[in-house]
Amino acid sequence: MSDDKNKEIDQLSGVETTGHEWDGLKELNNPLPRWWVWVFLVTIVWAGWYFVAYPAWPTLSGHTEGSKGYTQFNELRESQDEIRERQQAYLERFNKASFKEILNDRELYAFAMAGGASAFKDNCATCHGTGAAGGKGYPNLIDDDWLWGGKLDDIHQTLQYGIRADNYDTRLSQMPSFGKDKLLTREEIETVTDYVLSLSGAEQTETFEAGHEIFQKNCASCHGEDGKGKHEFGAPNLADAIWLYGGKRADVFETIYVARAGMMPAWGPRLDEPTIRQLTVYLHQLGGGESDEVQAELIDEEAPLPDAGQYNDAPLEAPEYENPEKTVTPAEEEDAASAE
Ligand code: HEC
Ligand code: HEC
Repeated sequence: MSDDKNKEIDQLSGVETTGHEWDGLKELNNPLPRWWVWVFLVTIVWAGWYFVAYPAWPTLSGHTEGSKGYTQFNELRESQDEIRERQQAYLERFNKASFKEILNDRELYAFAMAGGASAFKDNCATCHGTGAAGGKGYPNLIDDDWLWGGKLDDIHQTLQYGIRADNYDTRLSQMPSFGKDKLLTREEIETVTDYVLSLSGAEQTETFEAGHEIFQKNCASCHGEDGKGKHEFGAPNLADAIWLYGGKRADVFETIYVARAGMMPAWGPRLDEPTIRQLTVYLHQLGGGESDEVQAELIDEEAPLPDAGQYNDAPLEAPEYENPEKTVTPAEEEDAASAE
């Protein structure tokens, strides 16, 4: 500090120095800017108030509570209440509206799409992929190829009761294991495999006629005479080159040999009705839902899609489909025979 005795005035600025000097550089004793002092004082007062109002100081058993009773849990609860309140306004209308009304009301439609997208990520993406494009054994839900039907009511029923799930109303059907249960010989299965492949554009083999006959006798009841599938049985269209279990010859052979029976849990007991309806609308829009009169007036292009971009979503991480029963392929069977 400078006392009067060695008080020194800087020649250039006319300001008193502090008497500190480094290599000829002298420190001027300017007063602090007034605004700075005020901000400083305000922060001190604010810190005192904060210390009293908010949890601030650790104690042996935890921390001071603060007079406002603030916790992050309370904050979360409040913000969730607020969201719920905001949703409630839509939810009441949504619950009363028919699918047709929802599709024709921009607000309700956006509400359904947003809710459906988020419920999908939470509950369905594990199996169907985040972008809903599916994987082996898990159907693609963004194309217009449906096993059990793609009308709003079909989708709603599929979600409510599941597929081969554990309830009386579930969607149920079972393709016979033609090879394992010896309903067809291996040769017949080879023949009908080639026939099935030819339905989606593979070259016809010379067994085409025989394959056609086997197909009409054994397969057409579920897959249709033209092989285009029947929703009542969840039997896929075999003529569209879209494969649930793979379209290589070996895959198709295996499917016919052991048969498949994909299972999806029923969501009725797990999700509430508004969520299932939101998912229904969401999937219907996403997946080229099958047209029915409800869709005719849809305001599609204008309505906002909350989830634009999901079509090029991250790569699928669905669990690998596992064949519950190992198929013995013709090659393996020969190996076994020659080993004996
Ligand atoms: C445990 C895996 C799993 C989960 C989770 C799952 N699914 Fe599925 N889902 C499947 C399988 C497997 C099938 C195909 C069943 C079959 O082969 O018929 C399927 C079929 C469907 C179908 C019928 C498709 C068609 O072509 O008819 C719809 C719709 C569907 N799922 C929607 C959903 C929705 C919505 C959710 C989330 C609420 C969901 N899935 C969650 C496994 C799952
Ligand atoms: C009782 C009805 C029924 C009969 C009969 C039936 N299927 Fe199926 N088939 C199904 C069902 C249901 C599925 C789908 C299984 C699933 O989703 O898990 C299926 C799936 C398939 C698939 C898989 C398609 C894909 O996309 O991966 C092929 C191939 C197939 N069937 C061929 C045949 C052939 C060939 C016959 C006759 C030899 C036949 N099916 C007879 C019901 C049937």
